[in-house]
Parts: sequence; C-alpha cells; structure tokens
Amino acid sequence: MNPTAAANSPAGALTLAQEKQVAAAAALRWVRDGMLLGLGTGSTSAQFIIQLGAAVQNGLKVQGTATSLASEALARQLGIPLVAPRRGLRFDLAVDGADELDGQLRLIKGGGGALLREKLLETASNYLLVVADSSKLVPVLGRFPLPLEVVPFALPWVLDAVEALGGAPVVRMIKDDPAAYYYSDQKNLILDCHFGQIADAERLATQLKTIPGIVEHGLFLGLAKAAVIVKDGAALVLRP
Ligand code: 5RP
Repeated sequence: MNPTAAANSPAGALTLAQEKQVAAAAALRWVRDGMLLGLGTGSTSAQFIIQLGAAVQNGLKVQGTATSLASEALARQLGIPLVAPRRGLRFDLAVDGADELDGQLRLIKGGGGALLREKLLETASNYLLVVADSSKLVPVLGRFPLPLEVVPFALPWVLDAVEALGGAPVVRMIKDDPAAYYYSDQKNLILDCHFGQIADAERLATQLKTIPGIVEHGLFLGLAKAAVIVKDGAALVLRP
C-alpha cells in the first residue's frame, strides 16, 4: 500500500472530469485483496467506486462502508459488498475527495453534505487517501466556504456564534428548489461559512467544536496520509 511514484497518466490537458477519473484510477493501486474500505462521497469518489466495482467484478475481494446514502447505493449497485458500522470496526483504507486541500493535506470537506459520516469513517481509518482534481489544491484554506452540519433546532444560535467568530454563514438550500433547506443524510442542516483565508485552521476547528448544535465541521486536520492530485495530466502523490 505504498506506491510512491506517480501513476501512469495520459499527458496533455484534461478536463476536471477526466482528472477525477485519473485520480481514481491511481487510488485503485492502493487497494489490496481483503481490505476493508471507507468509501467517500462526491464526483471523484464516485469515479473511485465505479472503478472499484469493475475490479470487484474481476475478482477483487474487498468490503466497504460508505460515507453517504448516495455512495452506498452506487456501491451496492456495482456489487461491492457492504458492511454496517459495528464496535471495533476500522478501515484499512478510506478513499475520498476534498473541496480544498493545502500542502500539509489539511482539508475542507462537506461540499456534498456528507462531512459527518466522512469524518466518522475517516477517523476510524488507518489510512485516508484523498483523490482530487487540480482545482482543489490551494496555498491557504478558505476559498471554499467551510461546511458545518447543524441540528435544525440550534440554527439561530449557531448563526450568532459563527458570526461572532468572524464567519459569514449561509444556510444551504436545495439547488433545484432554492426555497427548500438542504438536509444531510442525518436530517441536519448544512451551513456554508465564509471565513476568508483560514490562517489557523486548528484554532478555528477547536472554536467550532465548542459551539452547541454544531454536530461536525468540515475541517479535516491530521487525517489524510496521502493525496492523489492531477496536475498537467499526470497523477501526483502528495504527502503531508
Ligand atoms: C462530500 C465531500 C466531497 O468529497 C467533496 O465535496 C469533493 O467532491 P467532488 O469530488 O465532487 O469534487 O466532501 O461531502
């Protein structure tokens, strides 16, 4: 589980969608027979699950647990054996996308609304591998608004508390129905919070953890062991 060289990748300009496929293909090289996998959420993770499903059809023996109902449905449809959460369950490898990553592999996640289950599975994983297209690597986190998963009853107080921290929270709505709140798989709300450049991500994460009603925040710090990103058509492996 340690391919240090860049995976073979086509040269030349790729679309972001193609970059996601290349990153997913490179991530498949980490997978070994018998592994228990954490399956991420989002378009890059979906590419990984699709390619994993093809490998399972060709005889690869793995099991997985998904970070969202959408990824679970995709994995099930592709014949990837799924296991439910249980005491002591740990994953050999979790593969997931990110909305942003910096050079130390600190992440913003939750653009797909799955940050709580992602944090749960990835904290219970021995190895988190991030898969990302070239747009995700940033010098400083914060261009992408930080998602927070919030208990609906707590919304007014959480809005006040986030603003007191200097954030500008926006309640996420459903894209096709802007009058309707977006609810996570756990039936919570998602706040997308603009904090500007996040110079001290560890401090912000600690502050957010003290606010009652925030179930989880989208800062993933110290969790990613490696990232496959695609740059100039080639898959590169980054480590913190
Ligand atoms: C979902 C996530 C995704 O990993 C993140 O939004 C990246 O998605 P994509 O691969 O579609 O760019 O955190 O909650």
